[in-house]
Amino acid sequence: MEINKLERYWLIAVGITLGAFVAATIVAVTVFGIRLPAPVERIDPQRLDQTIFAKPGVRKIADNRYEAVIVAKSWAFDAGPEAGNPAVLRFPRGSQVTFYVTSKDVMHGFQIEKHTLNLELVPGQVARASANFNRPGTYHIICNHYCGAGHQVMYGVIIVE
Ligand code: CUA
Repeated sequence: MEINKLERYWLIAVGITLGAFVAATIVAVTVFGIRLPAPVERIDPQRLDQTIFAKPGVRKIADNRYEAVIVAKSWAFDAGPEAGNPAVLRFPRGSQVTFYVTSKDVMHGFQIEKHTLNLELVPGQVARASANFNRPGTYHIICNHYCGAGHQVMYGVIIVE
C-alpha cells in the first residue's frame, strides 16, 4: 500500500507522541508512585456526616505535627467553627501539617500559596497531602478550579507564627 510522504511523517509524529505519553504514565506509576485513589480513600459525598469530615478542624497529633480536616463546598473551605469563615488556620513555625480534604458538591481546588501543595478535590474522594511551614507569614489557600459564581471568593488563610 502506498503511503503519502506527509502522511507517513504524521503517523511517525503521532507514534512518537503516543509513546511519550505511555512512557510518562509508566514513569509516574513506577518512579513517582502516583496512583488512583484506593477504595479506602473514597467516600459518599452525601454522607460526610458519617466520616472524619463530620467534624472538620485542626488537631495536634505530636510536637509540631498537625492534622487538618477540611470540607470544600461552594464557596468556602470549612475547617470547623474555630477557624471561622473564611477559614483561618494558625500553626507555629516548623509545623508539618497533613491535610485531609474533600468536596461535598462540585470539583474544587486546594492550593497553598508559596508551598508545593496543590490538590484537586473531587466529590467522593479524599485528597491527602502534607506540607511543612517553616517560614512565618500569611499564606492563602486558593480554590484554583473554576467552581461557579463564587469561585473567586473561595479561599482560606494559613498563618504561620
Ligand atoms: Cu471552589 Cu473554585
